[in-house]
Amino acid sequence: MNSASDAKIVYKKIFLLQNRIRFLITCKFMVQPLHPTILAIESSCDETSASVIRSGKVLNNVIASQAIHHKHGGVVPELASRAHQQNILLVVNEAMQTADIKGNELNAIAFTRGPGLMGSLLVGVSFAKGMALALSIPMIEVNHMEAHVLAHFINERPTFPFLCLTVSGGHTQIVLVKDYLDMHVIGETQDDAVGEAFDKAAKMMGLPYPGGPLIDKFAQLGNASTFKFSQTVMPGLEFSFSGIKTAFLYFLRDRKKENEKFVEENLNDICASLQRHLVQMLLQKLKLAAQQTGIREIAIAGGVAANSGLRNELAQTAKELNWKIFIPEFQYCTDNAAMIAMAAHYKFLAGKFCSMDVAPIPNLAIGG
Ligand code: KG4
Ligand code: ZN
Repeated sequence: MNSASDAKIVYKKIFLLQNRIRFLITCKFMVQPLHPTILAIESSCDETSASVIRSGKVLNNVIASQAIHHKHGGVVPELASRAHQQNILLVVNEAMQTADIKGNELNAIAFTRGPGLMGSLLVGVSFAKGMALALSIPMIEVNHMEAHVLAHFINERPTFPFLCLTVSGGHTQIVLVKDYLDMHVIGETQDDAVGEAFDKAAKMMGLPYPGGPLIDKFAQLGNASTFKFSQTVMPGLEFSFSGIKTAFLYFLRDRKKENEKFVEENLNDICASLQRHLVQMLLQKLKLAAQQTGIREIAIAGGVAANSGLRNELAQTAKELNWKIFIPEFQYCTDNAAMIAMAAHYKFLAGKFCSMDVAPIPNLAIGG
């Protein structure tokens, strides 16, 4: 035999072997269990988080927050991705250990594909790829904003269809949720997110990042009727928060001209008044959405859903309008991997896996 025919035989063997591997992987995907165990990773912004879910029950939710951004007054993308690199192995190990799970018991690995910061997303996506390759298990990509909505299925179970007001540092949306994996944005901000308005206003008052929880804390001690801010009128279900940011800047500037210590002396009342104003902007549109759709099952999600003013006002409105409301536990409001795990569970049951060449999408839209 000559070397050319030898090479042909080797190529043929490799070809058959590749086909056989492909066939085995396909079989493995086709006989996925109905009670999967999935490891989920969240790394879209400044929290590195991992969670294990088994048969749809979240077993844990390990979160490493990045304190490094506090002194910079906001998230610094480069520092965020470096911190994710340092934290991710520790966080994943802790999630696996506290769930008492070995790698070979996992049926899939899920990760946040977007929206978020490119560098931060890349760390989670790359780590997930490495683990999926090493364990020969499929991967599931999750949309961070859909996951915020699906966080409601960790403990409670709204019935479909319901409305979800998703309010975070990067988004303000009203989502019509028809099914676990069938949701549509029916209204959203045309500029800044409400969380950003909280954080920027806090920064103007000299408070550290993230300012939202601090405004909430001081607001609880203040009188919300003390100061009034002008309304930005937006059509339909659209929001805008850039106007209030500028109005607040001028408000502080003018008051400080009269009294240099205006902020220190009135912090609680300023926070209470601003918080009420922002919450009312949200509720006004939520009421309109409920009226337009005729839906009375209403949920809130995202970091700003932790806000006590929003929670109280929503409860009050629910009484008045006979709404059934769903408010997530605090740990599932801000960024966490448990919500990614919950979304991954439903995607697994629907057979929605992704391939190894998947890349992060920083502006990934719901349904995108
Ligand atoms: O969902 P999240 O953790 O991250 C994003 O996906 O953006 O939301 C973070 C946002 C920040 O703007 C933070 O200030 C805000 O949620 N936030 C709050 C409260 N807790 C977190 N805003 C107002 N009141 C709170 N209690
Ligand atoms: Zn988020």
